[in-house]
Amino acid sequence: MYSSAAKAKTLDAMKLASFVDPLLLPVLQKPQSRRSSTIHGAFDVPYYPIHIREIESRLHRDLPPSRLWSYGTTSAPLLFEAQSNGGVLIDWINDLPPQHLLPLDPPMRGMELDPPTRVATHLHGARVPSISDGYPEDWFGPGKNKLCYYPNHQDSTGLWMHDHAMGVSRFNVFAGLMGWYLIRDEVERSLNLPSGKYEIPLLIYDRSFDPLGQLYYPNPPDEGSWSQEFLGDAMVVNGKVRPYHEVEPRRYRLRIANTANARFFSLSFSSGQNFHVIGSDQGLLATPVEMKRLVLAPAERADLIVDFSDVSGENVVLQSDDLELIQFRVSKDRVDDDTSQLPKSLRPIERIPEQQAERTRVMTLNEFDDDSGMAMTMLLNRKHWADPVTEQVKLNSVEIWSLANLTQDTHPIHLHMVRFQVLDRRGFSVDDYLASNALPLHYTDVAREPGAHEMGWKDVVQCPPETVTRIIVPFEGYAGRYLWHCHILEHEANDMMRPYDVIT
Ligand code: C2O
Ligand code: CU
Ligand code: CU
Repeated sequence: MYSSAAKAKTLDAMKLASFVDPLLLPVLQKPQSRRSSTIHGAFDVPYYPIHIREIESRLHRDLPPSRLWSYGTTSAPLLFEAQSNGGVLIDWINDLPPQHLLPLDPPMRGMELDPPTRVATHLHGARVPSISDGYPEDWFGPGKNKLCYYPNHQDSTGLWMHDHAMGVSRFNVFAGLMGWYLIRDEVERSLNLPSGKYEIPLLIYDRSFDPLGQLYYPNPPDEGSWSQEFLGDAMVVNGKVRPYHEVEPRRYRLRIANTANARFFSLSFSSGQNFHVIGSDQGLLATPVEMKRLVLAPAERADLIVDFSDVSGENVVLQSDDLELIQFRVSKDRVDDDTSQLPKSLRPIERIPEQQAERTRVMTLNEFDDDSGMAMTMLLNRKHWADPVTEQVKLNSVEIWSLANLTQDTHPIHLHMVRFQVLDRRGFSVDDYLASNALPLHYTDVAREPGAHEMGWKDVVQCPPETVTRIIVPFEGYAGRYLWHCHILEHEANDMMRPYDVIT
């Protein structure tokens, strides 16, 4: 994972002391005023001006301040709280300097664009008109701004915003452009889940540092022509390397988003305790699912209830295999009685019958290697981003997308604007497919149901190698141009990202 060449250029983050910095809580935003916008049809809604800027912030006690990019003023993520069906206006203001924080790689697609410090903010998982979706080509440079309207016509859930600007989104997100956006609703409020300080939103991701404590992104990469997946050795939670947090022996609700460029987290607690998954990307599950270990791919979210009452006086680490993320220091006593609940049922979820689908599309996930086996490019349906749109979907129709993964990697595939359900996964013969270069797919085993924790509404789906992953998608919301892509940001950049149109 880490070549010796890369090691010489990086500080060994494993040697930094664990759990010396307190967890930073996300910074709740208050609207500056109420506004209307004729472009968006927004009338008298909360208005938030957000300055995107370069800052300096210490990510660990023993590191000097690192230069970062932020939607806020520190390394802690911003947090927006919206109500279901209550729209908000956010003005994204580019106050970045003219020079990028990171070395850019000129040969990559999109890199010839100018200025280098362009941004396009996307609210991941939001059902929004395409003009406010942060389409990669809707970027703008320093000194410019973009007013976006988020109608929030969707269920309570945890969304996250991140940069999506053409050619540079992997660097912009790496530099720090990400944050939280929670949507609330009545169903959630009626459940008496742990709330207030007992609900903790966590962005988890990995970084590496150069010997001077500045962010290090291997570019140009040490091997090959591009970095295929960034993996760092410093696990970061809400802007601190391996922080700690003091908790009481009671139930907590942890909202977790994997905002890493490429790393999958396999989450468990050092205490070996079980936890309950109550929600996924697009909101609450029908019933809690008890688990010991949960794998979150980049951009996936999990809504967890964890009970620390059996571990009072102990330290419990949230970890990903042997990597430590955050330590919970459980006090001996509770401040108050824990009146929150772990309800037996959460929100009814109707499974969409397959017969409702008007159309099934087989979409391939491809990787093309050079003679040495280095990936030259990764594509969807063998098409580049710049190729004409091939997917035109009727607004309000239901489709099944069969994502046939011809590669040896798991790709987290994400569709903008919609939510979907995972139908099943089934192995198929990649060799047969490649030999004939044609359908039908030859299946090699039976279809497997998704995990119980994947039975809710999703907007990212893990597509394992040599497997067809089927999703069923109601295209509800807005007509316009959107996109779908692999959420490993290095794959997205080269060139696993495609536009699609919703038409009326
Ligand atoms: Cu997290 Cu194109 O999105
Ligand atoms: Cu998205
Ligand atoms: Cu991928």
